[in-house]
Amino acid sequence: MTKATPLLAIEALEQSFGGVMALAGVSFQTHENLIHAVIGPNGAGKTTLFNVLCGFYQPTAGSLRFNSQELRGLPPHRIAALGIARTFQNLQLFFNMTVLENVMVGCHLRARVGLLAAALRLPKVRREERQLREWSSEALELCELADHAEQPAGALPYGLMKRVEIARALAAKPRLLLLDEPAAGLNDTETLALRDLIMRIRTSGVTVLLVEHHMPLVMSVSDRLLVLDYGSVLAEGTPAEIQANPQVIAAYLGGAVQYAV
Ligand SMILES: Nc1ncnc2c1ncn2[C@@H]1O[C@H](COP(=O)(O)OP(=O)(O)O)[C@@H](O)[C@H]1O
Ligand SMILES: [Mg+2]
Repeated sequence: MTKATPLLAIEALEQSFGGVMALAGVSFQTHENLIHAVIGPNGAGKTTLFNVLCGFYQPTAGSLRFNSQELRGLPPHRIAALGIARTFQNLQLFFNMTVLENVMVGCHLRARVGLLAAALRLPKVRREERQLREWSSEALELCELADHAEQPAGALPYGLMKRVEIARALAAKPRLLLLDEPAAGLNDTETLALRDLIMRIRTSGVTVLLVEHHMPLVMSVSDRLLVLDYGSVLAEGTPAEIQANPQVIAAYLGGAVQYAV
C-alpha cells in the first residue's frame, strides 16, 4: 500500500495565527479508499487542517499534494474542482430551501458554463442542470435521504440535517471527503447509521478524512488514525496501534474509553 502514490501527502505544514501555531509542522499521507480519522483534543488543529486543505487558509509553510498536485496557493473553488469536498463542524444549511436544493448547491462548484450562457439558458446550461440534479439525486440516495428531497431542510430532525450536509459534499463528486465532527449531537441510533453511511461512501470509491471525538465510531470505522496535539502529530497508525500508544492515552484517550459501538 505504501508504494502507491498517496492520494494526499502533507509535509511540514505550518499554520500560524499571530502567536498561535495551529499547525506546527504536520506531515502525513493518506491513500485512496481509506477511512482515515484525525483525532485530538479541542484546539489541536483538526479544523485548521481541513481549512488549509480546502484553501480557506493559506499555510505559513509546508506543502500539500493531492494526487501529486500541489494545492498550496490554489483558491477554494480550484481545490473543490480537483475533488476535495467537506462538511462543517457547525451545521451550514439553508433551512427554508428543500433538501434537494441544499444538496444542489454543492455541485455548483463543478458547473462549467459561464454566466452569459446561464442567463441565455443555452441548451448546454439545461444539460448541465440535468447533470447537477442527477449527481444530487445520487448523493441523496447514498445518504438515504431520497424520501425527504422535497421537504424543507429546516423541518428535518437534527441527525438528518447533518446528513444533508454530507450529501451536499458528495454531490460535488469528490475523491476526498472531509467530515468535521459528523457525529456531534447525534444519538446512538443516528451514530450507528452514520457509521454505515461512512462505510458506504468509502465503498462508492471516495476516500474519507474523518475528524471526530466519538471514539467508538472512530475506532470501528477507521483504517488508520492521525493524532494531533497542539498542532503537532502525536501518532499515526491503525486503531489497534493508536489505542495501545501510551502517549495518545495520556494526551487524549485517558484509558477509560470503551471501543465497542
Ligand atoms: N481563524 C483563526 N484565527 C485565530 N486562531 C485560530 C483560527 N482558527 C483556529 N485558531 C486557533 O488554532 C488552534 C486550533 O484550532 P482548531 O483547528 O479549530 O482546533 P480543533 O478543530 O482541533 O479543535 C486553536 O488554538 C484555535 O484557537
Ligand atoms: Mg474543530
